[in-house]
Amino acid sequence: MMLAAPETLSHVAVIGAGTVGSSWATFFLARGLGVTVWDPAAGFEVRVKSYIERAWPVMQRLGLSAGADSARLRFAETAAQAVAGAAFVQESAPEDTAIKRALYAEVDQALGPDAVLASSSSGLLISELQKGWRSAPRMVIGHPFNPPHLIPLVEVVGGPETDPRVVDWSIAFYKSLGKPAIRLNREVTGHVANRLQSALWREAVHLITTGVASAADVDTAIAYGPGLRWALMGQTMVWHLGGGDGGMARMFEILGPAIQSWWDDLGTPDLTPEVKATMVAEANAAAGGQTIADIARRRDELLIGLIETLGSIRGQLGPGVP
Ligand SMILES: NC(=O)c1ccc[n+]([C@@H]2O[C@H](COP(=O)([O-])OP(=O)(O)OC[C@H]3O[C@@H](n4cnc5c(N)ncnc54)[C@H](O)[C@@H]3O)[C@@H](O)[C@H]2O)c1
Repeated sequence: MMLAAPETLSHVAVIGAGTVGSSWATFFLARGLGVTVWDPAAGFEVRVKSYIERAWPVMQRLGLSAGADSARLRFAETAAQAVAGAAFVQESAPEDTAIKRALYAEVDQALGPDAVLASSSSGLLISELQKGWRSAPRMVIGHPFNPPHLIPLVEVVGGPETDPRVVDWSIAFYKSLGKPAIRLNREVTGHVANRLQSALWREAVHLITTGVASAADVDTAIAYGPGLRWALMGQTMVWHLGGGDGGMARMFEILGPAIQSWWDDLGTPDLTPEVKATMVAEANAAAGGQTIADIARRRDELLIGLIETLGSIRGQLGPGVP
């Protein structure tokens, strides 16, 4: 296996082009790469093109890489045709092991001997997806956060058959495009970021359904409190700072017993029909009459502004901050 230097790639393939695949195509084009897209849905070309056209002004505002051109988009008639000649393939087919494996059966022989295939899967295990393919050593999970053309994070994990050099390469490739890619040393359901979100939300559901606070107030507590710091750094660095000059070790002296008592008291709700009904009602109340489209528009506007601001301060914040 002779992996190309990540920064020398000029072209990638995207197979499966719904919500996430279309966003990946937008992202790769904006980073100056040519992109060949394939999806089995009739008329996918029109859908993908219109997604990219709508997203392109934002990519221009955030900054295009040298040579970026939305016209460098190509469509393939088959999955095998899409991956032929591509050194990197981002797969974003439906979240179903059987569907993804059927797709891998189609592309396995067409993938070049040095080509890397990354799956966007949010929760499937790479060990299951890669089992038995010729290309298994060059398969990883490259899990984005939606939409990948705006949210920087990618989580990379290899399976038992993945060549460790391919995990290193994939991280270097995403980083070469400006994405802070993280490494999972072993596969785990839901990867890292979805598990973190779920842990936080489990406690939110507990607080809301046991009447401690409304969903609106719990969400305010996140967005106007710790959420502001979480946009800059993770909780470990937050509490390393919480210990003052003594860092994490001192923080345990100050807050350790309290944290243990909070952990001991955290809730473990199940998603019963009653809990779901309460959360649906609470979410609607928290929306306060705004439509989903209103909230999404406001989220997108604020998100783009935040990404612009963070982009201009990244690199000045030091270790622990990508
Ligand atoms: N939506 C998210 O928030 C999100 C975030 C991160 C990762 N992901 C992951 O991305 C992947 C795609 O999710 P999505 O939200 O874009 O779903 P989606 O339903 O929007 O898109 C899936 C696309 O796959 C196509 N498809 C159907 N059968 C296929 C096949 N056999 N081979 C290839 N493509 C096929 C469909 O036509 C559709 O365009 C999933 O693995 C999901 O877990 C989703």
